Formats: sequence, structure tokens, C-alpha cells
Amino acid sequence: MSGNNIMIKSTGAYLPVKILTNKDLEKIVDTSDEWITTRTGIKTRRVAADHEATSDMAYEAAKIALKRANMDPQEVELIIVATITPDMFFPSTGCFVQDRLGAKNAVAMDVNAACSGYIYSLVIACKFLGTGSYKNAVIIGAEKLTSITNWEDRNTCVLFGDGAGASVLIPSNGESKLLAFDLGTDGSYGEELFMPGGGSRNPASIETVENKLHSIRMNGNTIFKVAVNKMKKTFTNSMGNAGITTEDISILIPHQANLRIIESLRKSLHLPKEKVHVNIDKYGNTSAASIAIGLNEVYEEGLIKRGDIIGFVAFGGGLTWGSAIIQY
Ligand code: UT7
Repeated sequence: MSGNNIMIKSTGAYLPVKILTNKDLEKIVDTSDEWITTRTGIKTRRVAADHEATSDMAYEAAKIALKRANMDPQEVELIIVATITPDMFFPSTGCFVQDRLGAKNAVAMDVNAACSGYIYSLVIACKFLGTGSYKNAVIIGAEKLTSITNWEDRNTCVLFGDGAGASVLIPSNGESKLLAFDLGTDGSYGEELFMPGGGSRNPASIETVENKLHSIRMNGNTIFKVAVNKMKKTFTNSMGNAGITTEDISILIPHQANLRIIESLRKSLHLPKEKVHVNIDKYGNTSAASIAIGLNEVYEEGLIKRGDIIGFVAFGGGLTWGSAIIQY
């Protein structure tokens, strides 16, 4: 693939301080630590403070990534924030992050592809860098999902958490590159995982608040089945496009929605446990942030080195799905 000579120069992440345990949730809804652990693999999740918006977490993650890249914010040319929990409808969360960073020379935008948002943003940024339009990019996955959680709905409130992860991308002349990607969308499943209220379809009103339309709704069963199929298919497509097999993968960082989904994918790809990064137990499902947080984690834990082949795969609201394979 031409135009994909990029390097993930550095990463950063931010997780809010407050930890919400399964035991805490037992006091809020009719659930149990045992159910949540066995059905999802989640033990704890982070909850942003009232004063913390998505852009605040995105800013903290980006600040770390830029410091590690030894880059002045004024050098940044492109900022993409992947999120479904923007600070406001507009301006974009990217604009708030640009301002906080003092990245005066950067173009900023948001991408809404739910849990696939980090992969979509990675591919978009690679294309801008690959064509020479911009010399660098900061891509950020950031979510405050607890701000759109219905705390009376046990089907969803046990699943989600808050956090942000950022990556600095630069062009590469060496072996680092985006080897392949595969993206997909099926809008016919749009209302299987969505937030009905607040947009132009159902503008905010007393009724939308009373009917709890400003929170996540999900048909978990349907999503689960499609997720398992699509994640395997998209990652297999990317491996085919890259001309590699699972043997070549150093580590796979999947979106963290459910440990059973991750395990099913891992087994179907015949990957050993140590090659699949899992942190859902600590952070739950952080949608667009999960892969970005995972990548920063494997970096900080010393699990990756330059030249390694890293896989990303995600699935989420839209429905959207996607995968990417990079040589780090
Ligand atoms: O990140 C974006 C994409 N999202 C996903 O990929 C999520 C995909 N879906 C899932 O991960 C799973 O479907 C869930 C974790 C959401 C649910 O697991 P499940 O095994 O599909 O459970 P279910 O929805 O079939 O529910 C089984 C039972 C039901 O009770 P009955 O009807 O059998 O009596 C639920 O009411 O579990 C009940 N239940 C709960 N029980 C205790 C649902 N939520 C809870 C809960 N605690 N929190």
C-alpha cells in the first residue's frame, strides 16, 4: 500500500482517578459482581469527575504523547478526536483540545465512529500524512461514557467507563508503516446501539429527559453476535491485505467491549493469550478510547519494540468495525 509510511512516534493516556467497582454497582442496580465478571470480564471502571469533560481527558493524554515525542504543541498540524461523548455538539472536542494544548497551527476535528473511532482516525490521519498534506498528527480516543449512562439500566450501566488515549503520528522513512487496514459500516443496525435523544431527530425536551433518551441503549445480544463475526472477518481481511498470518503478529490490541468477545476472537484467530492485550477488567468499555489506552499500556509495560507488528481491531455503534496492522 502506498502512502502509508507513518510511524506512531509516541503515546499517552489519561484515566480518571475515581474507581467504580462491581460491588459499588450492586448498591445501585440489581446486579452482582459474579454476573458482571463472568458475562463481561469487567471488575472496575474509571469515572470522570463532574468537572472533567471529554476534552480535559483528551488534553491530558495528548500532553503526555507530545512530551514523549519531544514536540512543541505549535508544531502540531492535525488533531483528530474520536469520541461519541463530545463536550458539546459544537464546536468539536478537537477545537477545545487544540486550544488547551496551544496547538495554534493545527487543524482540528472529531470523528464519530463509536468504538471503531481510534482505528478510523488512524487511517484518516495516515492518509493526510501519506499525501504530504500534513507533517504530523495527534489522534485521540476520548470518552466520558458515564455522562450518557442510564444508572437505572443494569443491561448497560455496568459496562462503560471513562478515559482517553493519544498517539502522535509522523511520516516514516524506515520500516515503520501502516501495513494494511479494513473498515466497514452497516447503518441498518444503527438503532441496536445508540443514544436516541438530543439530536435533530429528538431534540432535548422535558419528554426526552423523562424518557431517558439521553443515554445509551443497546441490544447486547444482537451486537454480541455481529461483533464476533465482523471482528474476525475484518482482521482476517487486514492480514490478507498485509500479506501476513497470525504468526507474524507481535501483539493484538482489540477493542475492549466484553472478555467473551475478545476470547472468541483470540481462539478463532489461533492467537496465544500473551499476544492479545486485555485491560477490560480495569477500565470496562471506553469506546473510542480503548485501543488508544491499550496501545499506551503495552508501550509503558515494555511489551512492544520498534519493528513489531501490532494489530488493532474494533467494533461498535453504527454499526462500524475496522482493523489496522502497523509495523511499529
Ligand atoms: O463496544 C461496542 C459494542 N458493544 C458490544 O460489543 C457489547 C456486546 N454485548 C455484550 O457484551 C453482552 O450481550 C452483554 C454483556 C451486554 C450482555 O450479556 P449476555 O450474555 O448477552 O446477556 P443477556 O443480555 O442475554 O442477558 C442475560 C440475562 C437476562 O436475564 P433473563 O432475561 O435471562 O432473566 C438479563 O436481564 O442477564 C440479565 N442481566 C443482568 N443480570 C445481572 C443483564 N444485565 C445484567 C446485570 N446483572 N448487569
